[in-house]
Amino acid sequence: MHYKLGLIGFPVKHSLSPWIHRQFLKKAGLAGDYAIVEIAPGDSFEQKLQQIKHSQFDGFNVTVPYKKQIMPYLDQLDDNAKAIGAVNTVVQKDGKWIGYNTDGMGYITSLKQHYPSIFQNQACRILLIGAGGAARGLFFGLTTAGFTRVDIANRTLSSAETIAELGKKETNTAIMTLEEAEKQLHQYDLIIQTTNVGMKPNADDMILSLDQVGKNTIVSDIVYQPIETKFLHQAKQKGADVLYGHVMLLYQAQYAFELWTSQRVPAHDMEQDLKTVLG
Ligand code: ATR
Repeated sequence: MHYKLGLIGFPVKHSLSPWIHRQFLKKAGLAGDYAIVEIAPGDSFEQKLQQIKHSQFDGFNVTVPYKKQIMPYLDQLDDNAKAIGAVNTVVQKDGKWIGYNTDGMGYITSLKQHYPSIFQNQACRILLIGAGGAARGLFFGLTTAGFTRVDIANRTLSSAETIAELGKKETNTAIMTLEEAEKQLHQYDLIIQTTNVGMKPNADDMILSLDQVGKNTIVSDIVYQPIETKFLHQAKQKGADVLYGHVMLLYQAQYAFELWTSQRVPAHDMEQDLKTVLG
């Protein structure tokens, strides 16, 4: 079998997914390739999808800005994708397209790899900063993994409230502004920055100050360009532990690869190489 895999999105020319998945194919001893299919804003989305269907991809990833737009074209959605309302992985099975979302699972795996002890206390205090698509995926992932105290801070409170509604009945979620969160950071065991604030070329931006963060807190940022965001840099200066965004990128890819090939390829030893590739 020769796996035909790929990625749709825009812009995606500089995506690291081809590098990651080609490494996975090599490690798994499988033949195949991972192509980039850029769909520019002026292109017909439907026409491009038809081309992909005719090309008989075994599976593909979906990224910005098509994670929601792809949904009506799929034959089936898994529970994660349904709840999150976005798809980042499509599996082709007997000519049918099935949509998944591996972001939440990817984050949980990256956390397990680096800070397994946090899973011993499911009532630990977690703060999500931001309330966009990424925050929604992480909130669902964390509450599905059993964490019961996941708060959300966002500039727009109504978006945070919409995410909180995803919680189970045992989940306790406080909603707050960024200014309120800034004063309460010492209360949290895990703080996750889920917005694109601080991403290159705006690497000097910071969504809030980590001045009040405690030494025993794990601070995590989903931004991976630069590898060490200003947010993570300040967390380190305060003596906190950090979890880098490229690690989540790697594990959401590992889970997608498993959906396509039924093989879970060890990814831990790729973290350093990915960091080098990202420069
Ligand atoms: P994604 O789907 O990639 O997560 P998104 O849905 O556009 O992206 O969400 C962006 C998140 O970043 C939101 O939480 C947004 O805050 P609002 O809900 O108030 O818009 C947040 N965000 C983006 N730029 C911001 C900024 N300059 N300051 C504060 N929050 C910002």
